[in-house]
Amino acid sequence: MYTQQRQTKVFFEKNAKNWQKKADIKKNKKLNTIQERNFYVVDKIKLLKINSLIDIGCGTGDLSFDASKIINESVGIDFSKNMINLAKKKFKRKNLKFYNDNFFNFDPGQKFDCLSANGFIEYLSLKDIKRFINHSKNIVKKNKYIIFGTRNRLFNLFSLNKFTQNEIKKSSFKKFYEESIALAHLKFDNFRNLKKNKFEEVLFKQPKTGINVDRRHQFSPLQLIDLLMKYNWKPLDIYPINYHPVVPIKYNDKESRIFSNFIYSSKDKNKMPYIPFSSSFMILAKNE
Ligand SMILES: C[S@@+](CC[C@H](N)C(=O)[O-])C[C@H]1O[C@@H](n2cnc3c(N)ncnc32)[C@H](O)[C@@H]1O
Repeated sequence: MYTQQRQTKVFFEKNAKNWQKKADIKKNKKLNTIQERNFYVVDKIKLLKINSLIDIGCGTGDLSFDASKIINESVGIDFSKNMINLAKKKFKRKNLKFYNDNFFNFDPGQKFDCLSANGFIEYLSLKDIKRFINHSKNIVKKNKYIIFGTRNRLFNLFSLNKFTQNEIKKSSFKKFYEESIALAHLKFDNFRNLKKNKFEEVLFKQPKTGINVDRRHQFSPLQLIDLLMKYNWKPLDIYPINYHPVVPIKYNDKESRIFSNFIYSSKDKNKMPYIPFSSSFMILAKNE
């Protein structure tokens, strides 16, 4: 196992209990990042009539459990033993299974209507992210879906902090800024075809934000769209997660979250313009 994955495993083994508290909807009055992501997947399950789900890096199993209440079959896998033990202890249903395994060694032996993976790809090498996108095609049925949530590199341009200071020195800054402008003005179909930003790593040492893993990737929507299209996935939707009404230095988790939840759940059909100001985003694509 390489350093990035080893550090990830160590971190989540140690922090499983804490993660469980954060993921528990009853213990949090306002939705946090974990819950906004999980709700997005549940919404799409209903909308797209998904009947079977495999959640990769399922953590403490909250999404797998919520999904199992509305679909035929729900599976969660995670390489952290502590995470899976907490999930198994708390959530029991006949149509719900949890496995303690590494995604890259796991053979589910069947195909699913949907593969989800929230907060997962940031902990993989670039080579493994490509393997993940490619291998997922063998796990998802034809014309069915992949949904994942990940950190947003565009937010670096608007967070006005050390991330911004690093980005502004890079020649890629202008392209990411143009991508942000495009999000404010284009419909998704036109945005998807811009092919502006290639899939690549952030080329500076990123400051740590709460999770003790040296390398935690950030990508822009177009970078992931570029990658998905290379592996013949058709991107269908992107959605802001953890919208910031103010810069992080002024972001008070409790109060600012009201704004994030407001934007998240408002009936506004076009949420793309909010993405540059959101620290994460979701992406939905179809297996073509
Ligand atoms: C940020 S947590 C997200 C957990 C959950 N998806 C959520 O949103 O609450 C990332 C999870 O991915 C798991 N993970 C990372 N690499 C993995 C791998 N190669 N195979 C299986 N699980 C992995 C970690 O153990 C951790 O539980």
